[in-house]
Amino acid sequence: MAGHSNYVPQSAAAKWLESRLPVISLVRGSFVDFPTPKNLNYWWTFGGILAIMLMAQIITGIVLVMHYTPSTGAAFDSVEHIMRDVNFGWMLRYLHTNGASMFFIAVYIHIFRGLYYGSYKAPREISWILGVIIFLIMMGTAFMGYVLPWGQMSFWGATVITNLFSAIPLVGEAIRTWLWGGFAVDNPTLNRFFSLHYLLPFMILGVVILHVWAFHTTGNNNPTGVQPKSKKDTLPFHPYYTIKDLFAIVVFLIFFSWFAFYVPNYMGHPDNYIEANPLVTPAHIVPEWYFLPFYAILRAVPDKLGGVLAMFGAIAILFVLPWLDTSKVRSGSYRPLFKQFFWIFAANAVALGYLGAMPAEGVYVILSQICTVYYFAHFLLILPLLGFMEKPLPLPASISEAVLKGGSGSPAGAVAAPDTK
Ligand code: HEM
Repeated sequence: MAGHSNYVPQSAAAKWLESRLPVISLVRGSFVDFPTPKNLNYWWTFGGILAIMLMAQIITGIVLVMHYTPSTGAAFDSVEHIMRDVNFGWMLRYLHTNGASMFFIAVYIHIFRGLYYGSYKAPREISWILGVIIFLIMMGTAFMGYVLPWGQMSFWGATVITNLFSAIPLVGEAIRTWLWGGFAVDNPTLNRFFSLHYLLPFMILGVVILHVWAFHTTGNNNPTGVQPKSKKDTLPFHPYYTIKDLFAIVVFLIFFSWFAFYVPNYMGHPDNYIEANPLVTPAHIVPEWYFLPFYAILRAVPDKLGGVLAMFGAIAILFVLPWLDTSKVRSGSYRPLFKQFFWIFAANAVALGYLGAMPAEGVYVILSQICTVYYFAHFLLILPLLGFMEKPLPLPASISEAVLKGGSGSPAGAVAAPDTK
């Protein structure tokens, strides 16, 4: 990363530091002089937004912990104490809970950006795989965080999900007991979930550093999917993308603030304001919205083990996506058929989310099954076949050529050009 730095230390102190720990040239090479494709659109600002959201979650979380008590007898009351007695405690809590939702909105946009523009394809497979690892740790962190207020949904959500592990043949029951730290979701469970909920965000931070290192090694993808050919195709990261990212971050924070300050409970479940009671099961146990598509896949399969495998398989398949997509063209903008299937896939994911919130009965189950089959078919059949069957649009010779023809290198210019047939 430091390899891109034009930094030459001037003062004696700067030279002294540079020859011992070249941290200034590392930062300059990564975030100041770093050559970035000049046509990145606003979908590329979500990586920066995610980095800010990760920091916001860590900071609000650390302060919340100062007032939270991780025990079944005191957790629920300590959260009410935060809401009522701690100075700005309500704000910290609402920023943290809504922040989790915002984090997932941003990560889903970031993932779908990658899916559309083929950012997972060579040479960026490692950036993608590290991203999938981040996504998995994020899900674990959010799941365990939701247990901490020890409301009804905390308890029953934890019970449903941990029980899934008992479906694993032979060792399933032992794994479940091990996760619980006993024979039911109870104090030891809450304690270990609290410990892990504090640890995992720092693991995410570590993987994010690798993630950034990986795409700084390959260079960023861009809307054309064509690699930069010369200096004319790139711009230094600062000031061009620092200012663009900053603008997007401010707009995103306004959106976030609207939820946190005006409708703070909109994305939550009212039952979580009732203290956990192992003797009363809620009418419908639903996870937070960001888990719903995967929850729908879990319930679509009648067999418990099959459901668990399908749910984990839905994420695991993302690891091998770079090798399932056989197309030589990276960006969806130049792939007329892929583009249509991309939007069907996105609609299918939204439908799964809706079905995950519905009761697991009648037509909802059948629809969940159809959508689940389609989800896997997209990766296992459609993407591999499209690469052979589709005739892509002609690619621009360079990013600069595409930009001069119009927009951020959209193929509109290429379609209109006389040499497209
Ligand atoms: C805490 C979560 C994450 C953070 C902070 C983060 C950060 C970033 C940043 C700053 C970029 C460069 C700017 C951009 O392309 O938007 C980036 C690129 C990328 N991210 Fe993430 N990311 C996260 C999660 C993910 C996830 C979950 C995936 C996929 C499953 C992913 C896949 C990618 C890929 C493939 C690129 C390269 C795109 C390119 O070169 O243009 N990221 N990420």
